[in-house]
Amino acid sequence: MEREVTTMELADDVLFPNYGKRDLAFVRGDGAFLYDRDGRRFLDFTAGIAVCNLGHAHPGLASVIAEQAKTLLHTSNLFLIEGQVSLAEKLARLASTATSYRAMFVNSGTEANEGALKLARRYQFVSGQPQKTRVIGLPNGFHGRTMGALSVTANAKYREGMTPLVPGFETATSYEGVIESIDDTVAACIVEVVQGEAGVQPVAMDFLQRLALRLREVGGLLIVDEVQTGVGRTGTFFGYEQFGIEPDIITMAKGLGNGIPTGAILAKSEIASAFTPGMHGSTFGGNPFAMAVANYVVDTVSDPAFLAHVRRMGAEIQRILQNSYDNVTGLGLMWGFDVPDAQAWRQVAIDSGLLVTVCGPKRIRIVPPLVIDDAHLTLFEDVISSIARVV
Ligand SMILES: Cc1ncc(COP(=O)(O)O)c(C=O)c1O
Repeated sequence: MEREVTTMELADDVLFPNYGKRDLAFVRGDGAFLYDRDGRRFLDFTAGIAVCNLGHAHPGLASVIAEQAKTLLHTSNLFLIEGQVSLAEKLARLASTATSYRAMFVNSGTEANEGALKLARRYQFVSGQPQKTRVIGLPNGFHGRTMGALSVTANAKYREGMTPLVPGFETATSYEGVIESIDDTVAACIVEVVQGEAGVQPVAMDFLQRLALRLREVGGLLIVDEVQTGVGRTGTFFGYEQFGIEPDIITMAKGLGNGIPTGAILAKSEIASAFTPGMHGSTFGGNPFAMAVANYVVDTVSDPAFLAHVRRMGAEIQRILQNSYDNVTGLGLMWGFDVPDAQAWRQVAIDSGLLVTVCGPKRIRIVPPLVIDDAHLTLFEDVISSIARVV
């Protein structure tokens, strides 16, 4: 009798192989837990890679989604979308009470960064500085996979066979080297305040402040990529709030839609003005559906009590990890730590009902939903101490 082909095997034939082999599939989520077809429960400390900040199947968000689905999903940006106005106002207020920011909405982190990179060059051009075209990314930075975002992403592995990349876009080999190379030809630098994909490494505050100062001296723009660090992930609404810098442009995505693809570019008003009508756009970006979701998410996460909870949970996780592991780094609810063999560690974690991400041969990253509570922490601590005895 012929053996039935499993969905996992069929996946090898019908899907691109770009994500490698996936050994788990989930059918349902509830808060910080995911369930597979056999009813096995997993504590989800991946949150869809720092996306599902309110957890899975959040009841309030589910009703917003159901209501909006029955009302209006999409109209295009030919028409004013009121949810964009309210969300832009909220994000601008959260970004700064002193500086005026404006927003444009897109669909992903890569797309937010691509728009920001275009905006930086365009702003320099309309300001009578057409020689300012260079864009610099930090060592270990990750900004996405389109040609522009990839050109400022440091990891050479992601670019092999895809060159030449965007002329004038560069990544530095040392942090100090970035500051040294800044001159009158620089349009912008793009930074993460905590480098997530690089193993959850906070960038030195002193370095970021000196970088911001040097950029200001030459009229270059500071783009802060808050795709992973934004929307409460670090315990403040934006990560940069804890680093004493003021971005010219901020990019967001991931947690903004809790799983509904949404992103945003915030820019100081005079910079945003460089995108005159027709200079940039998106069919889906900021549609009524995404805006209903993002408004709900931002209202929930920006509550000071919610952010205080994130900081408290983060401090507990740091303590738990430091009891067993070395090189524990991170902020709020994004943490990385060293293990002898990350793939083996991940497998033992799965067998113990815990989901984590691997971000290096010896590095694990955890980015749980921001709604975890003490009961989840107890479970996490039990699993962590049992794993520490095995691998
Ligand atoms: C800091 C940062 N920027 C950009 C991106 C790309 O975002 P997306 O995958 O939504 O395009 C990511 C994704 O991991 C990220 O962590």
